[in-house]
Amino acid sequence: MSITINGIAAPAPTDARVSLLDYLREHLSLHGTKKGCDQGACGACTVLADGERILSCLALTVQYEGREITTIEGLESEAGLHPLQQAFIEHDGFQCGYCTPGQICSAIGMSAEARRGVPSHVTQDLTAAIALNHDELRERMSGNLCRCGAYNGIVAAIAENCRAEDEQQEAAE
Ligand code: FES
Ligand code: FES
Repeated sequence: MSITINGIAAPAPTDARVSLLDYLREHLSLHGTKKGCDQGACGACTVLADGERILSCLALTVQYEGREITTIEGLESEAGLHPLQQAFIEHDGFQCGYCTPGQICSAIGMSAEARRGVPSHVTQDLTAAIALNHDELRERMSGNLCRCGAYNGIVAAIAENCRAEDEQQEAAE
């Protein structure tokens, strides 16, 4: 069995009970993904599995055989930081930074969910395209806690990135 982490095939752990979070941090030394609560309540451990956000503390590594896992370390490209990483810097979207990798991975998955038309608790019109307004963003990101209370900057950074994605999409159409 192998699992692809940030584009590189990695060997499976010998112990089938190893969580994806411990596998990333303890076996592969990818310490960007953070352990907060270790029980699915804080979002610090969020990574992307084939582009969908998941809580790696609640995932067994063996469940992700053949899947593509992306962590915060895998977002940067040759062109530089991911635009959302840059937006977090420009909008002061962090203080201690502990929650930040999870916030960024979660926001990337969240944006893709909205584009696929996945509704949230506050979505009013289930037949219209989802606009990621302030309420939608806060609701959809409510699983990612920030003990520093950097929420205003976090929402501003994500909103700017979503706007930029919309402009790119419009330009491509
Ligand atoms: S460490 Fe996974 S949700 Fe908190
Ligand atoms: S920036 Fe410190 S927990 Fe969010």
